[in-house]
Amino acid sequence: MAITAASWDPAQYLRFAGERLRPAIDLMGRVPLATAARVVDLGCGTGNVTAILRERFPDADVLGVDGSDDMLAKARASVPGATFEAADFGTWTPATPPDLIYSNAALHWSGDHETLFPRLVSLLAPGGVLAVQMPAMHNEPLRALQNEVAAKGPWAPLLADAGFARGLLSVGEYYDMLRPRFAELDMWETIYLHVLQGPDAVTEWAAGSSLRPFLDKLPPGLREEYRAAYSAALAPHYPRRKDGTTLLPFRRLFIVGRVA
Ligand SMILES: C[S@@+](CC[C@H](N)C(=O)[O-])C[C@H]1O[C@@H](n2cnc3c(N)ncnc32)[C@H](O)[C@@H]1O
Repeated sequence: MAITAASWDPAQYLRFAGERLRPAIDLMGRVPLATAARVVDLGCGTGNVTAILRERFPDADVLGVDGSDDMLAKARASVPGATFEAADFGTWTPATPPDLIYSNAALHWSGDHETLFPRLVSLLAPGGVLAVQMPAMHNEPLRALQNEVAAKGPWAPLLADAGFARGLLSVGEYYDMLRPRFAELDMWETIYLHVLQGPDAVTEWAAGSSLRPFLDKLPPGLREEYRAAYSAALAPHYPRRKDGTTLLPFRRLFIVGRVA
């Protein structure tokens, strides 16, 4: 089943597993629950975070939900103690209200947050928690150049509707929407300074996530040309350091809310 607009390459995504797990763990550290009976990892991907949620809540039923069959296959193989379900964020409905809906680096792939977020809050059990981390990189060269380069070359007609990750609402809009719905609300932003190794490191990073929908729409040949043009456009913004590393400043928005 391919529910999501984007397709996923688990191996490419996991090349940067360390950098990508850190915000997940930072988010988990702020979840105000000592125990939980039902925990959902929404947009669980390959199950890396699902496994950590199982350790954090050993008595809970842990369910991973994702729209990608490739990701779910890997998750099922690597986290045997959890259950997994294929569903879209917009329509997924739990059989029993969860105590925790946890979502790391996933909800930005879905649009219409004005509908999605209130809906997720309404699915929680009394006292339940929604914990979300999303990249807030849409105006940064990493993401902006994907669109700019897409609009200019021979690939432009094929990329006109590339399903890239949506821009987020403003921090204030999330606050105004969510504050009345939660008894407690904690929001913050962090800019991580990822230190990437190897040549063309920022393009490699993007190829595991936000660049994927663009690459997937192009035939071989044009795909490599688009990727090379994107890489060349990125280079002045993310120069390689003397020690061979490349610094990628990466802003992320965190939202933790608890209903009454
Ligand atoms: C960047 S990965 C994050 C995976 C995992 N949470 C982690 O932290 O490693 C985003 C995941 O969201 C899933 N996804 C994107 N849009 C979706 C949608 N509308 N419904 C369900 N899953 C979706 C993708 O299939 C992908 O596995």
